Amino acid sequence: MYTTSKEMIRRAREGGYAVPAFNAENMEMVQAIVDAAEEMKSPVMIQTTPTTVDYITREMACAMVRAASERATVPVALHLDHCEKYDDVVKAMEAGYSSVMIDASKLPYEENVEVTRRVVESAKNYGVTVESELGTVGGKEDSLKSAGVIYTDPDEALDFATRTGIDIFAVAIGTSHGFYKGEPKLNFELLEKLRATIDVPLVLHGGSGIPDEMIRRTIELGISKVNFATELRAACTSAVREALRDEKIIDPKKFMGKGRNAVKELCIHKIKLCGSNGKA
Ligand code: 13P
Repeated sequence: MYTTSKEMIRRAREGGYAVPAFNAENMEMVQAIVDAAEEMKSPVMIQTTPTTVDYITREMACAMVRAASERATVPVALHLDHCEKYDDVVKAMEAGYSSVMIDASKLPYEENVEVTRRVVESAKNYGVTVESELGTVGGKEDSLKSAGVIYTDPDEALDFATRTGIDIFAVAIGTSHGFYKGEPKLNFELLEKLRATIDVPLVLHGGSGIPDEMIRRTIELGISKVNFATELRAACTSAVREALRDEKIIDPKKFMGKGRNAVKELCIHKIKLCGSNGKA
């Protein structure tokens, strides 16, 4: 069932769990994510970064996710992750994405507000959900590389959410994209403050490598969507690498199928962690 992300996130917020949002790079990952969600009876979001869009095209991403979700009973949304350009966000909505993230945080604050507000206006024509972020998640995602974490300021967050009208808000509370070098240090106090300040569902980026108990705590404190990317890529690639040790294998189905199984297993774990199993 192909849908927007707004309703599933609203229900997650009310129900005290989070919608898992998984980044996919190819058909096998899309299938693995939808199969895991179907088996767990969980709502799910599939995300593509701009470089994945360059690699597979928007049309292919939409066609794959629609085809996979038509066979499923659970709600599935396709989300554009971390897009910096207004025009590219609009092209994704035109192609059929049901959810988008505009990340204009590199611009001066007032320009960021203006671009984000324009995306929200355009999204109304398509019935698409809009996510944005203030502050900086650490690490590297796609072509976006940050120098470090800049925590989301609650007062600025309130001003931004009010003036832009975004549907979901990504907060920077100490997480990073990619794997962590040491134990991640999350600012739970700040998360509580943000939850109390802004009346918009909150998103946690950089889900890979965060210990399960920390993810659970962020959900208890009001996170309604958790993003996982790096761990899925790693699971897929390790399984494929292992399969390719057998030099007789020449049929891509034989090794890509192993990657698909590994991603599905990981997604099942993350769905249970988010508490979204049985919620669709
Ligand atoms: P990870 O790669 O750390 O899981 O981050 C995913 C993410 O936040 C995508 O926007």
